Amino acid sequence: MPPASHDRDFDLVVRGGLLATAAETFEADLAIRDGRIAAIGRALRPGAEEIDAKGLVVTPGGLDPHCHIEEPSEAGGVQEESFASGSAAALAGGTTSFICFVPQWKGHPIARTAPGYEARARASRADYGFHQIITDPTPEVLEREVPALVARGIRSLKVFLTYDPLRLTDGQYLEVLATARRLGALVTVHCENFDAIGWRIRALLAAGLTDPLQHAWARPPVVEREATHRAIALAELVDQPIQIFHVSCDEAAEEIARARARGVKVWGETCPQYLTLSTEDLARPDFEGAKAVCSPALRAPAERERIWARIADGTLDIVSSDHCGFSFATAKRDPGSSGYGQGGAEARPDGMPAFNAIPNGVPGIETRLPLLFSEGVSKGRIDLPTFVRLTSANAARLFGLAGRKGTLAPGADADLVLWDPSAERRIRNAALHHAIDYTPWEGLAVTGWPATVIRRGEVAVRDGAVLAEPGSGRFLARGPYPLVRPTGRVPDGFDAAAVPPRS
Ligand code: URP
Ligand code: ZN
Ligand code: ZN
Repeated sequence: MPPASHDRDFDLVVRGGLLATAAETFEADLAIRDGRIAAIGRALRPGAEEIDAKGLVVTPGGLDPHCHIEEPSEAGGVQEESFASGSAAALAGGTTSFICFVPQWKGHPIARTAPGYEARARASRADYGFHQIITDPTPEVLEREVPALVARGIRSLKVFLTYDPLRLTDGQYLEVLATARRLGALVTVHCENFDAIGWRIRALLAAGLTDPLQHAWARPPVVEREATHRAIALAELVDQPIQIFHVSCDEAAEEIARARARGVKVWGETCPQYLTLSTEDLARPDFEGAKAVCSPALRAPAERERIWARIADGTLDIVSSDHCGFSFATAKRDPGSSGYGQGGAEARPDGMPAFNAIPNGVPGIETRLPLLFSEGVSKGRIDLPTFVRLTSANAARLFGLAGRKGTLAPGADADLVLWDPSAERRIRNAALHHAIDYTPWEGLAVTGWPATVIRRGEVAVRDGAVLAEPGSGRFLARGPYPLVRPTGRVPDGFDAAAVPPRS
């Protein structure tokens, strides 16, 4: 353990907590100076401010690498969550940094898709970075815009293999993979088979089956497994590292495990909804099932323990929120008004939208960590180091923020969550800080809650009150890092991605 620094006083000392890192837990004091961790040890000198953390668990601040904040749609909608409200919710739930998405719409260069989006993010109270969504990989986008974005620290791309306005063909996906290879960026993939889903939707509608539960019937595990297999196989062909987003079922996780066993650089993410909710939530009466519509869809109840097992065996190494800002009263019940409907829907006699028109996604940026702490740590499914790896350390490693975020070590940003591990709460939407009118976990009892949240050395949340001001978050530019290096294995030794595209 490094010795305490004695050159000048600390700004803040967190004293006597049980510190949890990705590797171990130990009791210690933690001292902060100039927004960074300055020392960890016993009996550290006093700080200008002191926090007594005896009986509390101290983890790195959460890093949520997958959330949709204030994201505009081509139809003119905006997800109902501003950077100010979304980041307040993030901090209140122990997440001190997040990575959200800059959209691209087909037919538009990136620069003209959502002008001003990056500027709006400056209202964030938490630190933030961006993934760039690619829906239209023209030569202009791949050869000019993406290199410029990567140079500015936007070092990850998201692609969709489904959704009508967003999906890429296999050929386009290969071009994105090859571009990322050349630039040293990570590619994240939404894996579902577009044509299979469309075929199932048409049949369900023709049979008059339009309830929210049929959202899951339209996209069963096999459509996710097939696309996961394809996404990995094509990434293997290019020798480009990828992450599979929001894995909902064991069949898809199995594809990741098999690829990793043969040395492919592929990682898997899941979300609290796949660990705690199920098709029973989609089947709730009075259209309440719409509150649980997300893609990939929720699975049968038994699937949840299989996803926990895939966390235990290391196949899935990140739990993100996939937070989406769609309220029940507005976007979920009246997609036309939100500009975020899926289109092509049948009208239902009760006036509610058919399952295929309900905007996909659930809100969860504030509840991600408390749910995982309670369902994971408090219930004994995972230990504290695993909790740290799933909620911050692995995301920092995967997205180029290692050493800065997701760790308790001298020199790292002083982002901390002080947990009261015995606090008993019921999740109530009225007490959450997001701008959405519901939570899918309403009434759920949880054990463990963030008592204090510190972001870059400042107390950002105390006793549930968010103190961090809008605009106090910082943009996280991400530079080159070793994890995205290719393996060097390509078929026949011919590296097609290394051949520059012909103009
Ligand atoms: O249903 C979901 N997950 N909506 C958000 C968009 C995405 O696919 O990540
Ligand atoms: Zn997705
Ligand atoms: Zn998402």
